[in-house]
Amino acid sequence: MAAIRVIRGDITKQSVDAIVNAANESLLGGGGVDGAIHRAAGPELLAECRALHGCKTGDAKLTKGYRLPAKYVIHTVGPVWRGGAHGESDLLASCYHRSLAIAQEKELVSIAFPNISTGIYGYPKDKAAEIAISSVRQAMAQPTSLQDVVFICFDAENYDRYKKQIY
Ligand code: AR6
Repeated sequence: MAAIRVIRGDITKQSVDAIVNAANESLLGGGGVDGAIHRAAGPELLAECRALHGCKTGDAKLTKGYRLPAKYVIHTVGPVWRGGAHGESDLLASCYHRSLAIAQEKELVSIAFPNISTGIYGYPKDKAAEIAISSVRQAMAQPTSLQDVVFICFDAENYDRYKKQIY
């Protein structure tokens, strides 16, 4: 069974098989964690992303990590929070499930997630944390190549919440 851990820090610094990017449907970069990942990975990442022709909300796509310490980036697109009655929770859960499924297809051992949708996309942090943790726990209850799943919390509020729910 995989370990599920929480770290406070910057996802671009993580030496794992794959980091997950909280992207937008264009996959052509943006602010927040997406901007940080593209800056740290270098322009080759954008070139590979262009060839993917976007990604639907709730889905995920894989690229190489280029100048990042991580070998791969799994780009997923979280939902924009629109009050909660627009399928947001299923779409957010799908981001975690699809990212883990791609990691599993590649037989990856370690993966790091940011707190998808909780920045610019405005998803309430408490609700997003519950979905993130339950989705990962559900997936990790099945046989998997993954041995280490890490939630990277950038802000203190998310870090404290995840620590309480995981440990
Ligand atoms: N490492 C880890 N987490 C980070 C980092 C980092 N370097 N930087 C920010 N975060 P956001 P979203 C946290 O806004 O809400 C982009 O423009 C941040 O504190 O990056 O899914 C995309 O292109 C927050 O907890 O992503 C989309 O247009 C979390 O990452 C849009 O933003 C997610 O915040 C996606 O919005």
